[in-house]
Amino acid sequence: MLAKLFSYFIPINVFKKNSVLSKSLEVSWNNGELVLDSKNTNYSYGSLQRILRKGLKYIGFDRIKKFESILILGVAGGSVIKTLVEEVKFKGQITGIEIDEEIVEIANKYFKLSEIKNLDLIIDDAFEFVLKTKEKYDLIIIDIFQDTTMPNFLFEDFFINRVNYLLKRDGFILFNTMVINERERVRNLDYKKKFNGDFSLRMYPKVEVHNELFTIKKLA
Ligand SMILES: C[S@@+](CC[C@H](N)C(=O)[O-])C[C@H]1O[C@@H](n2cnc3c(N)ncnc32)[C@H](O)[C@@H]1O
Repeated sequence: MLAKLFSYFIPINVFKKNSVLSKSLEVSWNNGELVLDSKNTNYSYGSLQRILRKGLKYIGFDRIKKFESILILGVAGGSVIKTLVEEVKFKGQITGIEIDEEIVEIANKYFKLSEIKNLDLIIDDAFEFVLKTKEKYDLIIIDIFQDTTMPNFLFEDFFINRVNYLLKRDGFILFNTMVINERERVRNLDYKKKFNGDFSLRMYPKVEVHNELFTIKKLA
């Protein structure tokens, strides 16, 4: 394909639209791969996929493969879902929550998410969803951004306690954050303090420059 080949020299845009939440949504060929970007950051595939793949490696592909159910808050183009299905060979149930209907259309059209049999993709606000769901999960991936902004609820006790409750024993949370300034650095340190002895938390700073990952295990 010509666009793919040329994209090794210069990114080639194939779709662009303004967006209320993400400012803009762009699908482009970049270095031979199709990526989804918001106005100021990469949303799916590209560096974002590498970041979450590292997080999954910290938890362990072999361990994840044995899990029964995974919840993903913030789906975008679904690059972590591709990593789970194609690389981890995860066969269990995946539930994906994405607030933006337009992004779900892009995910299905350009990244073929609707072809993934073990994925249930739900258009909803992650905050609302975690209040409603009756399920419990072995792995909860939190990857919620509105362009470069992370909503405050992600760092508040109410959401944190609810997510912890939805996690099975021996299960993991993988939380992707962006740290660009001192306020965000302090915010992450405060977040860390919210987990007591029932959890084992690890912080991985500077994964791809600005991203800081947390893995949190709920102890048996
Ligand atoms: C970095 S992207 C997610 C990338 C994805 N995890 C992947 O592996 O490709 C962040 C996504 O969070 C979504 N989002 C923002 N606020 C949300 C909310 N309150 N509930 C659910 N999704 C939200 C955005 O629309 C965007 O698609």
